[in-house]
Amino acid sequence: MIYSTIMSIQIRAALETDTPAILDVVLSAFGNEQGQEIADLIIDLLNDRSAQPVISLVATTNNRVVGHVLFTSTRLKQSQQIFSSAILAPLSVHSDYQHQGIGGKLIQGGLNLLQAMGVGLVFVLGHPGYYPKYGFVAAGTRGFEAPYPIPPEHADAWMVQDLKPGIIGSVLGKVECADTLNDPKHWQE
Ligand SMILES: CC(C)(COP(=O)(O)OP(=O)(O)OC[C@H]1O[C@@H](n2cnc3c(N)ncnc32)[C@H](O)[C@@H]1OP(=O)(O)O)[C@@H](O)C(=O)NCCC(=O)NCCS
Repeated sequence: MIYSTIMSIQIRAALETDTPAILDVVLSAFGNEQGQEIADLIIDLLNDRSAQPVISLVATTNNRVVGHVLFTSTRLKQSQQIFSSAILAPLSVHSDYQHQGIGGKLIQGGLNLLQAMGVGLVFVLGHPGYYPKYGFVAAGTRGFEAPYPIPPEHADAWMVQDLKPGIIGSVLGKVECADTLNDPKHWQE
């Protein structure tokens, strides 16, 4: 556990050479069993053409990778309006470095890049106690259907954030993800 709060964190685009360090972070964050599945998911998404454009960011301190986030492309089925959207998954912070705002910095770094790219909506399936701290709101009640049904008891884990004011409320529909994420096993929150 790192107790120092005077730690400088940098957020930058992940390089190919970061992959082993990213996988270490994922195993530390999620534990060995689930971590291996998440690590495989990251590799598959990075190689998935239907996931492009991909934003893969690392958080580093003293040149050590301590966090990672991936955003991949999504589409809104049957939407008349043409705009880009993305999904945040997965997000991992090394267990020794959690609770210091690193997850938040990775999310914000990705949202800034997506906004600069003209992306209008960002989805996430995750902890409803966590992502609202960074601007996400419930997606189902705002007309966005997940690729696979989310059980009612976890409905609030399906969230969205608009990066262009006014998009939420003006579009509805079912979200289509990259082929890799388009598997029911990734939607059992
Ligand atoms: C979730 C995770 C990415 C957060 O990273 P982090 O750098 O610790 O997050 P931040 O410092 O930005 O925010 C921490 C705050 O978020 C909240 N939080 C963190 N994890 C949470 C969780 N699982 N559920 C609800 N709230 C959570 C807490 O309020 C925490 O505040 P605290 O430090 O006062 O306790 C990190 O804990 C992690 O990698 N966990 C394991 C993997 C995982 O669950 N990934 C997300 C999948 S949706």
